[in-house]
Amino acid sequence: MSITILGIESSCDDTSAAVIRDEFLLSNVMSNQDVHMKYGGVVPELASRAHQQNILPVVDSALKIAGVKIRDIDAIAFTRGPGLLGSLLVGTSFTKGLSIATGIPVIDVNHLQGHILSHFIKVPEKKVNTQPSFPFLSLLVSGGHTQIVRVESYSSFTVIGETIDDAVGEAFDKCAKIMGLGYPGGPVVDKLAKEGNKVAFKFSKPRVDGLNYSFSGVKTSLLYFLRDRIALDPSFIDKNKTDLCASFQSTLIDILMDKLVKASVMTGINEITIAGGVSANSLLRERIISEGIERGWRSHIPELRFTTDNAAMIAIAGYYKYISGYRSPLDIVPVSRSMDYLL
Ligand code: KG4
Ligand code: ZN
Repeated sequence: MSITILGIESSCDDTSAAVIRDEFLLSNVMSNQDVHMKYGGVVPELASRAHQQNILPVVDSALKIAGVKIRDIDAIAFTRGPGLLGSLLVGTSFTKGLSIATGIPVIDVNHLQGHILSHFIKVPEKKVNTQPSFPFLSLLVSGGHTQIVRVESYSSFTVIGETIDDAVGEAFDKCAKIMGLGYPGGPVVDKLAKEGNKVAFKFSKPRVDGLNYSFSGVKTSLLYFLRDRIALDPSFIDKNKTDLCASFQSTLIDILMDKLVKASVMTGINEITIAGGVSANSLLRERIISEGIERGWRSHIPELRFTTDNAAMIAIAGYYKYISGYRSPLDIVPVSRSMDYLL
């Protein structure tokens, strides 16, 4: 018998709904919030208001595109956290209301598990849907997180390395902000870097023990470097935009790759995946492939549409919880801080 899951994602500034049937994606609808652009970052209160406006039409069109009625849905999977509390509350309350009205069970999903499991989404148009095999390592890189996670099964996740300060996505966003390139910074820096020389400038790399990361130092190093250069030439950024982006990006990706290689050697795991918003980065995607060929990895790169926040990843993670028999109680509440992977 087929299992059909409706997924709902509202952890930050994207309202998204998706329908998955037996791991196959039937629809994945997204509504981005342009309202934050002029503030140079996500404004939590505006994000939750926009979610309230978007959620019903987004869910409605996800069902329509999938060609299913609400009575065909076996469970509604929603993001419980981590994320912005007001944003999470909109998705959680909407899901509970829909469940009470229809009697459909709900499944809470950890947003980070969703990112990691996005590799298991099957797309009907593809002839072959290759999936990672267990155990694998996931380099989870987003606006709020930077972790290396050892994944043993759909429900067994162990963080073996993580940032001790900023996330790598924050470093991308900060770099763009300092240089006046707008928000979110990652895609702009990535685009400009393609035209630049990555060895034009050198930024210091952190020394952190084990498999942990740190990105606050490299961010400060860019800030001081620009301050000194602008003092000599006020148009320094404008003249060197592409080289600055290429050099800064290359430093961040080197930092990510060094620890990932170390993690693979330490664990003996050669099945390597990347996930989260920063896994859209073209240099990181290239390096995962090239390093993979050199080191004999089986590298898995997510489709671009599954890298940034989306509900398809929440639906697939919910699907595995559903078939394991898990159901959430209706008094479940959202959690804004990082959650235990077992939750
Ligand atoms: O996973 P995500 O959509 O949201 C969070 O859960 O945080 O990740 C958003 C982050 C932002 O920091 C954004 O700048 C970054 O992903 N990002 C990128 C790229 N596309 C998005 N960073 C580098 N290169 C990109 N192409
Ligand atoms: Zn995310």
